[in-house]
Amino acid sequence: MNKLKVLSFQGSLREKSFNKYLLENLKDISEDIIDLNIFDIADIPLYNEDLWNNPPSSVLNFKKDVDRYNSIIISTPEYNYSYSGVLKNSIDWLSRNPNILNRKVVGIMGASTGAIGTARAQLLLRSTLATLNTYVMPKPEIFLSFAESKFSQDGKLTDKDSIDRIRIYSEEFVKFSSDFYK
Ligand SMILES: Cc1cc2nc3c(=O)[nH]c(=O)nc-3n(C[C@H](O)[C@H](O)[C@H](O)COP(=O)(O)O)c2cc1C
Repeated sequence: MNKLKVLSFQGSLREKSFNKYLLENLKDISEDIIDLNIFDIADIPLYNEDLWNNPPSSVLNFKKDVDRYNSIIISTPEYNYSYSGVLKNSIDWLSRNPNILNRKVVGIMGASTGAIGTARAQLLLRSTLATLNTYVMPKPEIFLSFAESKFSQDGKLTDKDSIDRIRIYSEEFVKFSSDFYK
């Protein structure tokens, strides 16, 4: 069976980000069914309409990479009941000249140190992605709560329940993607 090719990115710039760890663990847990490319958004500048006159290479590379994929996975932290500013900034770049997310299949997930694991952030992210004409997988969902207790020091997920959920999530994402792109 061909693996599903997926481009992913996440909304934290922290070196030891739990959302970065979440994507890295997803890559390991699902390597037999998903070929996951993790894009680092650290070099994406703040959105400025004037920059389109001479677009930064980091933005052009990001858009080119996203454009090569039909399926995208985004992991978000929760900042003050919303998704992070750097993630919004990256999505804003993707949404213009042209909207490169148009008709992409998108899976969302997130990790936070709080009790409900980015549920509020994901609702808002889902709403933004709906306006960009994407197909966002409704379920299953990954809300990785109390993240500091679920990873080892070097970023390995140690919580069996979360590992099982990520596996199920990946299998469903492969099926969901195939509903749109054969
Ligand atoms: C500005 C800020 C606001 C935050 N607000 C929330 C919040 O509303 N809910 C929550 O669960 N965690 C909140 N947190 C804690 C984050 O979940 C925690 O910092 C998490 O580790 C961020 O994700 P990362 O590890 O990928 O950087 C906040 C953190 C920051 C820095």
